[in-house]
Amino acid sequence: MRDTPARPLLVILAAGDGTRMHSRRPKVLQELAGRPLLAWVLETARALDPTEIRVVISPKTQAVREVFQDADLHFVDQGEPLGTGHAVRVALARVEGNPRVLVLYGDVPLIPLDELHALLNVAGPGQLALLTAELDDPRGYGRILRDPEGNLRGIAEEADLAAPRDRAIHEINTGVLAAQARDLVTLLPRIRNDNAQHEFYLTDLVAQALDAGFQVITRLAADAGRTLGINRAGDLATAENTVRALQVARLLDQGVRIRDPARFDLRGTLEAGRDVEIDVGVILEGAVRLGDGVRIGPYSVLRDVELGAESEVFSHCVLDGVKGGERVRIGPFARIRPKTRLGPGDRIGNFVEIKNSSLGRDSKANHLSYVGDAEIGNGVNLGAGVVTVNYDGANKHRTVIEDDVMVGCDVQLVAPVTIGRGAFIGAGSTIVRDAPAGGLTLARSEQKTIPDWKRPGPKG
Ligand code: UD1
Ligand code: CA
Repeated sequence: MRDTPARPLLVILAAGDGTRMHSRRPKVLQELAGRPLLAWVLETARALDPTEIRVVISPKTQAVREVFQDADLHFVDQGEPLGTGHAVRVALARVEGNPRVLVLYGDVPLIPLDELHALLNVAGPGQLALLTAELDDPRGYGRILRDPEGNLRGIAEEADLAAPRDRAIHEINTGVLAAQARDLVTLLPRIRNDNAQHEFYLTDLVAQALDAGFQVITRLAADAGRTLGINRAGDLATAENTVRALQVARLLDQGVRIRDPARFDLRGTLEAGRDVEIDVGVILEGAVRLGDGVRIGPYSVLRDVELGAESEVFSHCVLDGVKGGERVRIGPFARIRPKTRLGPGDRIGNFVEIKNSSLGRDSKANHLSYVGDAEIGNGVNLGAGVVTVNYDGANKHRTVIEDDVMVGCDVQLVAPVTIGRGAFIGAGSTIVRDAPAGGLTLARSEQKTIPDWKRPGPKG
């Protein structure tokens, strides 16, 4: 039987400059599938139920503290980042008791939780546990050095690899390490910086531990793809592919019909009912909830969207902050902006923009319209080219359209304005005052004909 170890103390390293990213943003704030790298690491960290999470930052990565203001995080300022070994030493300058410590790198976002549990389980007194991985292309990583019998000798960083045969070592250091606090505090000061980069490498701890007679236990990660470290933009793209594959596999298992796993992106969460179909090139961001039988057409982008059962989004739509009832039909080429509610059976057609508006049930805006700051009832039909004129240059005003109104084509509704129930607005009208219920309201000049008018001929 495995005993449950006490709650660990977590140290997350995020003080490095991340120069290889060529970015103004600290590396751990770079986004992977819609969330900063550090958010991924923190999610895993929190799942370990730690006593404390210490995040090591430097003066150059202060922005991290501003982005992550969660109360459970303790930021430790490393000052000048002198290497990963220095970072952990600073992080453990004060520790109460002798907890197990797990070190995670802020730029290694996808380590599975069970690997971490396994490492913590074996890190007893006088023991150091290390997560390694076998990579086809080990370039850039610290290599695990072993003697011919396979006994661990240490870790060599890429820059310090002496013999060419060491370059060919495929077992790499993932950066994840577990040990008891007291053991770490004993060993860390022994790390020196007499290496190619003049840094205090945490990886030196392994040689120090072996020297001191510690047992160093390595564990080979089951899925090497999950141990990827992010140093360059290319690594971020690789990680994005890894995340995509993981998410797609999970969604396909749940029965979501994804046409092409390579052409689908989830940068947030998706809750999907049965028989949901997602065509190619779809990007889902934030929190997306799709009811039974919902279909999303090709190349549509949905952010924070909720759609009721049997709804359909046709191709090339951009929906952001939309809550729709059942059987709504949207697009192709529609843009719906935040705070929009659509009722059951609503139909939003091509080149229609809607924002901060609510529509009742079975209402339509099928072609070329702008609907902003409007309250629209049930069974309303907005003809082609209807525009709510909601902005007077200083303030936004509301348009109210009651049930069963028919607004003809090319009508401007100058807000604030109310169109009464069942009213009919003639095409081409500019409506500046409330239109009463029931009647036909027209606001356009009379049509006239000049019978003896002569067409101008060509000049000269
Ligand atoms: C590191 C490991 C390498 C391993 C690889 C796994 C060392 C010396 N090398 O190399 O063996 O294969 O990760 O991805 O540890 N950081 C600090 N303070 C510092 C320096 C770095 O907090 O003074 C942080 C960085 O922000 C980063 C992490 O530590 O999140 C790793 O640093 P990085 O420079 O990326 O190390 P690698 O060269 O990738
Ligand atoms: Ca790295």
